[in-house]
Amino acid sequence: MSGGHSTYTPKSGIGKWIDARMPLPRLVYDSFVAYPVPRNLNYAYTFGGILSLMLIAQILTGVVLAMHYVSDTSLAFVSVEKIMRDVNSGWLLRYMHANGASFFFIAVYIHIMRGLYYGSYKAPRELLWILGCIIYLLMMATAFMGYVLPWGQMSFWGATVITGFFTAIPLVGEWIQQLLLGGFAVDNPTLNRFFALHYLLPFMIAGVVVLHVWALHVTGQTNPTGIEVKAKTDTVAFTPYATIKDAFAMIVFLAVFAYFIFYMPNYLGHPDNYIEANPLKTPAHIVPEWYFLPFYAILRAITFNIGPIDSKLGGVLAMFGSIAVLFFVPWLDTSRVRSAVYRPWYKLFFWLFVADAIFLGWLGSRPAEGAYVAMAQVATLYYFAFFIVIMPVLGLIETPRRLPNSITEAVLSKNKAHPAVAAKV
Ligand code: HEM
Repeated sequence: MSGGHSTYTPKSGIGKWIDARMPLPRLVYDSFVAYPVPRNLNYAYTFGGILSLMLIAQILTGVVLAMHYVSDTSLAFVSVEKIMRDVNSGWLLRYMHANGASFFFIAVYIHIMRGLYYGSYKAPRELLWILGCIIYLLMMATAFMGYVLPWGQMSFWGATVITGFFTAIPLVGEWIQQLLLGGFAVDNPTLNRFFALHYLLPFMIAGVVVLHVWALHVTGQTNPTGIEVKAKTDTVAFTPYATIKDAFAMIVFLAVFAYFIFYMPNYLGHPDNYIEANPLKTPAHIVPEWYFLPFYAILRAITFNIGPIDSKLGGVLAMFGSIAVLFFVPWLDTSRVRSAVYRPWYKLFFWLFVADAIFLGWLGSRPAEGAYVAMAQVATLYYFAFFIVIMPVLGLIETPRRLPNSITEAVLSKNKAHPAVAAKV
């Protein structure tokens, strides 16, 4: 995956033997040891590594859970309870997996926001960004289907609501819904196909992650200045510099993750999911997992018809559109300057966007009535305006701050601002 010249020299005889036949150690060395990374990467750049770790953790815990789980509507709920009570460390595996999904999303949201802040999607990294968007879509599908497996009330009713959206699509909507359900309602065939796909998709995610990291290693990482690497002094070797920094960030992240697992394992879940699915009893409020809430708010914000599009289809289009718009970000941002560090106005609108997305998440957890709907409509408007109006227009009219000539210059001038540090340099 390394784009540059290899500096790997096998030391042992067996190393030379392998290198001549299948140079995998060389690939690892070039990609994760000698690989040059910008010297000014901050902790926002550690989340890709954290995501890789979480993906592995999810796959490992998931595979063991699957050894005890039964994907049959009469046994699914009980089998999960059995995992919690009777299987050795089953409670730990399940809490790791359930909270792991949430922490995976926390990491991916920080990773995406980092990309939006530092303009990581800009040429020549468009494909890298698009591969990331594909991963995100696959993650959402995986999480949605995983949530159905414990066969609690929220599993059942969440699946019923979400698959119901597809009926809003003209002509093929009902056909798509039946294909997803394997019938006319959420039932045994639904649970079985969701289990099969929930097992499959993480491996597809892993495949796309390989492409994602490959693309990354062709273009190289950006950095907080947004200026490309120009000289050798702009970079440091991946190992030990990035490795140690990534490892430290992972430990801190895992400490918070562990706190959730051991002290508040059900905090991010919904109590109704500890009640077995009952198709005859609809819960008072059907809410998705927290990481879907902003999109849920956008879906419910469209309460009016737009020309020939009725409100239901409008809501579904807005919801899918809010994710689809991410794919076009590399072309929506017209600014010549990559990083928000040098774009005062973009920085402001970016943080407003972050606040807006969190606000939408909160609104998604509220009932869709009264003032909540009006607020969701305003927040949805800003969500789309950020991408479709602010990004293209601001890029043309904003006067950016003066850029340093190189990464090294930026790092040294920063040090100069602190006389104590400058004295040491
Ligand atoms: C399983 C999920 C993912 C994994 C394992 C992953 C992995 C990584 C890794 C290891 C890096 C390099 C380290 C870093 O910059 O943090 C990276 C960079 C990047 N990722 Fe991801 N990623 C994931 C999801 C995403 C998503 C959802 C997006 C965007 C929608 C995305 C966009 C990017 C971009 C643009 C970069 C280059 C950053 C830069 O150099 O400025 N990634 N990713």
